[in-house]
Amino acid sequence: MTNEPLRLGIVGCGGISVRHVDALRTLRAAGFRSFELAAVCDLREGPARQVTRMAAEWLGREPAIYNDINAMLDAGVVDALDVTTDAGAHHRVAVPALERGVHVLVEKPMAITARAGRRMIEAAQRGGAVLSVAENYRRDPIMRLVKAAIEGGVIGTPRLATYLSITGNQHVLLGTSWRHDKLRGGLLLDLLVHAADLLVYFLGPVKRVYAETGILEEERMMQADAAGANDWLYRHREDDVPAGSTVRPTAEDTALGVLRFESGPIGYMAYTSGAPGERLGTHLLHGSRGSLRVPGARSGRTPVVTPATDEGGAETLDGDALLERLPGFSLDDVTQRLFDGAARLGRYEVPTDQVNARLVAYQLEELARCIHGGARPEVDGELGLHAMSVPLALLESGATGRAVTLDDVTSLVAEDYQGPINERLGIR
Ligand SMILES: NC(=O)c1ccc[n+]([C@@H]2O[C@H](COP(=O)([O-])OP(=O)(O)OC[C@H]3O[C@@H](n4cnc5c(N)ncnc54)[C@H](O)[C@@H]3O)[C@@H](O)[C@H]2O)c1
Repeated sequence: MTNEPLRLGIVGCGGISVRHVDALRTLRAAGFRSFELAAVCDLREGPARQVTRMAAEWLGREPAIYNDINAMLDAGVVDALDVTTDAGAHHRVAVPALERGVHVLVEKPMAITARAGRRMIEAAQRGGAVLSVAENYRRDPIMRLVKAAIEGGVIGTPRLATYLSITGNQHVLLGTSWRHDKLRGGLLLDLLVHAADLLVYFLGPVKRVYAETGILEEERMMQADAAGANDWLYRHREDDVPAGSTVRPTAEDTALGVLRFESGPIGYMAYTSGAPGERLGTHLLHGSRGSLRVPGARSGRTPVVTPATDEGGAETLDGDALLERLPGFSLDDVTQRLFDGAARLGRYEVPTDQVNARLVAYQLEELARCIHGGARPEVDGELGLHAMSVPLALLESGATGRAVTLDDVTSLVAEDYQGPINERLGIR
């Protein structure tokens, strides 16, 4: 039996939303008929019109435009929402939808605070709706291979995780001022949640963290072409802050944290965009029999394993050699169809925009299958809440000077940092 396409609404028509429209085109090209784009919603008309133009060109049909989520829900025109607003608005959009039984795929980070995330999970339970979180990095075929390599014992028992991203400039990231505003998102939630979700995917849940955090860059400049080649996606930014003006960040741009995973390994996570000069970036997993270098998600580059010197020298294994070591590894059927039929990939060469669209396509197709078949999404509300609670735990620890358990963040006990945000946003 074939299911009728579900009616999808995209809420938040900024930079990433265009990739979500592209994902619908990608699904169609791969022969999937899970969704039709029925409506879009944004507080501002300009971004909404940009997305409907792309939809008309790529999908052959212009969706309806709304400027208020409740009006869109009252109109009864959608079965599911794809929430692509800034993080500060995720709960405002998702809670009323889920309560009415409208299913939701929400961009990462799932919510602005753990309390907001918890309210989304409860709303999904009340409405009997599917809640899925778009943690796209783990859906990259190369990350599936990394996970299989770890589970296949290629580096032995995992011991140590290192994630470093040390960069710095004085600009507003992507020209979106909300990425420096703790009431709307902030760099650590926005960016570090990707690394957090990957580490949780590879090593399991985090137990406890300790961190120092801060704002190193106290004033940032709005650049005219802040998003480079993707600048056309971010033109709406000047509605908030005109080019050439400055922003004083309220959200931290730096966290140096130590993590303990429930399964045993220790991790070190360092992120800053407030350290100009030499850049440092690495993502490494060490185990009892060697290490694995995790390549950048969506890069298509190969993972590299360096075995322990007493395990046959320091010869490194790349993706193809890894595939040989993992004869049982295979990509799932949806990933295979989206990645040109390949059952196994050790590396790939696909333009980043297309990779983005394919990974979002995967997430949408998964949502449709969960709606029709009743299965739980891979990243459901609880897992999405856990991943976003890693950067939140770093922020809580930085605010209090104490180690913080993930349980205390997800069960809303640790709220020294988040409490004032909840209060200002009316999250109870
Ligand atoms: N997975 C990824 O690789 C990836 C990449 C970029 C962004 N993102 C995520 O996507 C989300 C959006 O990021 P962006 O870069 O597109 O931001 P953006 O600022 O370009 O777009 C956000 C849009 O949401 C609209 N909006 C805000 N509140 C709204 C509300 N209540 N109702 C309707 N519209 C509302 C804004 O007007 C804006 O047009 C964030 O959660 C971000 O972390 C994910």
